[in-house]
Amino acid sequence: MNSKLKVLYVSAECAPYIKVGGLGDVAGELPLKLKELGVDIRVVIPGNKDIDYPTQYKGDYPVNLGWRKETCIVREIVNAPVKTFIIDNYHYFGRQGVYGHNDDSERFALFCAAVYEMILRFDFMPDIVHLNDWHTAPVAMLLRENEREHGELSEISIVYTIHNLEYQGVSDRSVFNLFGVKDVVFKVDRVEYYGCFNPMKAGINYADIINAVSKTSAKEMLTPRFGFGLEGVLKNREPAIRGVLNGISQNKWDPRTDKYIYCNYAQNDMEGKKKNKKELRKELGLNDSDVPLFSVVSRLVPNKGLDLMEPAFEYILKNNNQLVILGSGERFYEKMFVELTEKYPGLVSVNIEFNEEKARKIYAGSDIFLMPSRYEPCGLSQLIAMRYGTVPVVHKTGGLADTVIDEASNKGSGTGFVFSKYSKDSFIRAIKKAINQYNDRDSWRQLVKRAMIKDYSWENSALEYLSIYREAKVMNTKRKSEGRILI
Ligand code: GLC
Repeated sequence: MNSKLKVLYVSAECAPYIKVGGLGDVAGELPLKLKELGVDIRVVIPGNKDIDYPTQYKGDYPVNLGWRKETCIVREIVNAPVKTFIIDNYHYFGRQGVYGHNDDSERFALFCAAVYEMILRFDFMPDIVHLNDWHTAPVAMLLRENEREHGELSEISIVYTIHNLEYQGVSDRSVFNLFGVKDVVFKVDRVEYYGCFNPMKAGINYADIINAVSKTSAKEMLTPRFGFGLEGVLKNREPAIRGVLNGISQNKWDPRTDKYIYCNYAQNDMEGKKKNKKELRKELGLNDSDVPLFSVVSRLVPNKGLDLMEPAFEYILKNNNQLVILGSGERFYEKMFVELTEKYPGLVSVNIEFNEEKARKIYAGSDIFLMPSRYEPCGLSQLIAMRYGTVPVVHKTGGLADTVIDEASNKGSGTGFVFSKYSKDSFIRAIKKAINQYNDRDSWRQLVKRAMIKDYSWENSALEYLSIYREAKVMNTKRKSEGRILI
């Protein structure tokens, strides 16, 4: 007898095997927590040349892709803490880079079709299929549109997590045709979107529960400003929408044990943090003076608030404070930031790269972390910054609004500085407040401490996911009892 809840967690990336951004971290950490809570969970990701872990062959089968058949091979990562499967196909997945290929729509269509086949063929019939972002959403369509033929599929409940609504994977109808479902599915109430195929819509329309990665993001998604054209589709499914904040791994991000930082420290030993700052400055070639050191660790893409960063950086540097930037992305901004180095020598260090070791040193060695994202469904860096005692200055949106308490309006109980209006003036005002408090050493120390002890571990989030899984089952039962089995 095995009464464990069975979950198949489907994602385009999963740390540590292959990771591009926050989605990879979540896929690497949440399933592990769920396993600890007694869930029988398995993860499945597409193959990639960059995955450098030993695997074991589990089987192969042909997958229908339009008029063709593609052979997919299933491999399992050896000794993974959570059972993790890789679906391989030499042509589509034998490449480097998770995203950014011309045929991404087709690649992920094959992945979804292969996951669907895997569910039918493998000896693991999940109670819950948990899908993430547009890349995996069509699995929901395949499960529901084929349940007449395969009755057992109607027993599966579907949870769909939206990490980033902006990227929807919209493609032309030919990609839809690859799935071999009936033409009638290509309708506005299912997956059609202005004459195109929208995989994100498949997730939203077919899942039993849809969730965003913070409560605020779950609400924001329903508005034209943050709905990216899908606010109406989401509004139709409002009763099924939830929000669950992501956590961060407490072991992975811990200034007491982090091997990469200059010296370990804890909230009751802040000398260690000072030492990190001193060493970081030295390494980056910044002047040795006691001014606040601001930091940015981010992909340099528009939604991270690049347009507000430029004037804010000028403000910070003009006033002789210091700044370190780590990240890469838009060339225009990369160049602009590099130019600051010539204008303000000794005050700013610009590092156009992604380098985890450096990122950790920056989290540990800087004082104030800047994250003015235009929108941010959850955000992980502000959580890491707080854990390392680096006070965040953030825009009041999504997960930033839900995790940082504004010190200016909650004197003595805040954990950072939050600005509401997305404008350079309000961002700079928040920065000024941070500098003022930095100069009041005693209250700064208290603020740092509050940020450090705030608990954003996975425990609570994983419990919330368990209750979402339960709700998804209830919703699915209701759907079936109302005869809403699609034909
Ligand atoms: C996406 C979102 C980010 C979130 C991450 C993990 O990258 O943009 O806010 O933290 O997914 O859910």
